This record gives sequence, structure tokens and C-alpha cells, in this order.
Amino acid sequence: MTTTRKWLLKSRPSGALQDSDFDLVTLPIPIVGDGQFLVRMTHFSFDPTQRGWLGGDTYLPAVPIGGVVRAGGIGEVIASHHPGFAAGDMVQGTFGWQEHALSDGTTETGPVTKLRAGVTPEQALGVFGVTGLTAWFGLTEIGKPNAGDTVLVSGAAGATGSVVVQIAKALGCKVIGIAGGPEKCRWVMEQAGADACIDYRAGNVARQIREHARKGVQVVFENVGGEILDAALANLALGARVVLCGGISSYNDTAEDRSPGLRNYMNLTVMRGHMQGFIVLDFAKRYGEGVAALSKLMAQGKLNTAEDIQHGFENCPATLRRLFEGKNFGKQLLVV
Ligand SMILES: NC(=O)c1ccc[n+]([C@@H]2O[C@H](COP(=O)([O-])OP(=O)(O)OC[C@H]3O[C@@H](n4cnc5c(N)ncnc54)[C@H](OP(=O)(O)O)[C@@H]3O)[C@@H](O)[C@H]2O)c1
Repeated sequence: MTTTRKWLLKSRPSGALQDSDFDLVTLPIPIVGDGQFLVRMTHFSFDPTQRGWLGGDTYLPAVPIGGVVRAGGIGEVIASHHPGFAAGDMVQGTFGWQEHALSDGTTETGPVTKLRAGVTPEQALGVFGVTGLTAWFGLTEIGKPNAGDTVLVSGAAGATGSVVVQIAKALGCKVIGIAGGPEKCRWVMEQAGADACIDYRAGNVARQIREHARKGVQVVFENVGGEILDAALANLALGARVVLCGGISSYNDTAEDRSPGLRNYMNLTVMRGHMQGFIVLDFAKRYGEGVAALSKLMAQGKLNTAEDIQHGFENCPATLRRLFEGKNFGKQLLVV
């Protein structure tokens, strides 16, 4: 094989992602220089934050027009002139949507790492990757739940939310999930162990939260934003912590679509609560600690995960869209 394919960003997306926002190009496989190695990609992670990276500058610079679409993934080193990596190594990094990636051992979001023995690519990109680490650090460092607290988790059937539910249960909290549809809600309760799960498509979310948490919620782990966050803010307990992990409901909004704001934010004042955002990269130096904690929960049988695996490099854009259509069940991955 002498050629390889890459997905490039063709134009800055406006609204929901379209196939026409991307270009699939075929190029020669690059030559491996001194201090470099070549990775044949096997798995890609799909993350809502990729929508932000395509739209403009965020906590990372925007993917440039004509640039390879930024994405985390795993692959096998197939040639190396780098002292730290050898052919056959399975490696993880932000390699982007390309079948073959040339690397010097670093990526935009940190160093390329080797897969730990006994960890599958699905686990490395999911529960022990950005997803699980976001759940761990966001909940324990920002939400700081105490045993007996009521924790409300939106996006509860998703990759991050489902791990948050289970960490909170392991810490002795009452957990209320919010997810789209009865099938996802059933999974959140039966497999992730939430005490209750609200189907946000089935009606008044604020009222449903109140029915499950008469005295309010001490911790909100927010993945969705908008109306769902507003419903959570209406149900805060005294001193509540709102962890602003994400707001996927608005990621496709154009400037014109953007909602004017939250109606219930003054409840933070009344209940002496606080709302704090974070980016998991802030905890990069402590990832080992997070992986150890998540591994322990898994060994104790307290962490169930679900992976949604799509196939085929040509399906990268369609797979990313699944996150915004609520089609994914658990961690969205693609096998090349
Ligand atoms: N702060 C950080 O460092 C950090 C790191 C990782 C992830 N995040 C954030 O965490 C959140 C979850 O990410 P993830 O990777 O775990 O994805 P995910 O939850 O596995 O997938 C996204 C889910 O969001 C829900 N959703 C999509 N559009 C929606 C809408 N308009 N209204 C309500 N729900 C909607 C869908 O679930 P339903 O079918 O249940 O609607 C969908 O399955 C995102 O907001 C992401 O940006 C933040």
C-alpha cells in the first residue's frame, strides 16, 4: 500500500455538521524521518468537543481550513526511526482523522502514549481515556459529592455521564440521571445503577427532578446545558455545586440560534450555590491517579461501560454526527 486517506476540514461548519464540511483526500503514505514513527490507525474516539474545534478557537486553536480533522485515536506503529517507539507498539494520541499518522511522539493535546497491558483500545479511549477522566475529575474535584448527597447527571446514558452516575453511586450518593428516551433511561438505572432516570423527551424536566429530589440536589453534573440546565438550577439544595462539564444542546447553534440565557440562575444566589466549568486537560498531570481510581472501581464490579462501535474510515463525519442526534449508546468509537 502506497497511499493513505485523510479527512480534511473543507469549510467552517454552521449549524449541524454536513458531509460537505469535509473532504476525503488520498495522498502518498509519508516517509518516516529521523525521530519519527508511522502509525496505522485502528480506532477513533468521537467527542462532542470536536464540533467546537471545527467551529473556531476554543481552549485549543480551531482546526484550520484544509487541516486534518482533530481527533483522538489509537493505532499500531508500523515503522519507526524514533528511539522510544518500535514497530508493533499500540499507541494513543490526538492523531486526527487519517489512516496513517506520522508522529514525533507529541500531539497537540500531549504526548503519544503506549497502551497499557490488559487495557483494550475501547477502554483506553473510553473509560480510561478523556471520557472516564472527565467524569472522575469533574465529579470528585468540582462537584465534591458527600455520601448521602443527591447527584443529578444529564447526558446520563452517554460516555461521560454514565461513568459519573456510577462514581457517584460508589461514593454513596443518590443519583438521578437524565437521558433521551425510555431505552436509555432503562440502561441508566439497570446497568449504571441510578436510583431514577428522567426521560427529558417525556415532559417537564424541572417537575420530574422535583418529584425525585424533594429537598433539592447537592450536585449537578451538567453535560447538556440549555433547558435541562435551567431545570436543574430550579432544583438546587443549599450550597449546591453545579459542574459545567458541557452543553451539547447548543454546540450546533449559530449566533442567531443562541438562546438568550438561563431563567433560573438566581437560584444559585438564593441557595448559595456555585457553578464551575473545567476542561479535563487541566488535570493532565493527575491522569494516572484518575485511571487508578477508575481501575479500582472496575475491579470491584462497580463500573459498567457501553461502547457504540461504528466501522469504516469513510464514515467518520457520519459517526461524529451521531453524538448530536442522540444515536450513540455509550462511548462513540469507530474501528478503521
Ligand atoms: N469539560 C471537559 O473537559 C469535557 C470532556 C469530555 C466531554 N465533555 C462534555 O461532556 C458531554 C458528554 O460528552 P460525551 O463524550 O460523553 O458524549 P455522549 O454523552 O456519549 O454523547 C452525546 C449525548 O448527548 C445527548 N445530546 C445530544 N444533543 C442533545 C440535545 N440537543 N439535547 C439534549 N441532549 C443531547 C445525546 O444523548 P440523549 O440521547 O440522552 O439525548 C447524546 O447521545 C458533552 O457536553 C461534552 O462536551 C466535556
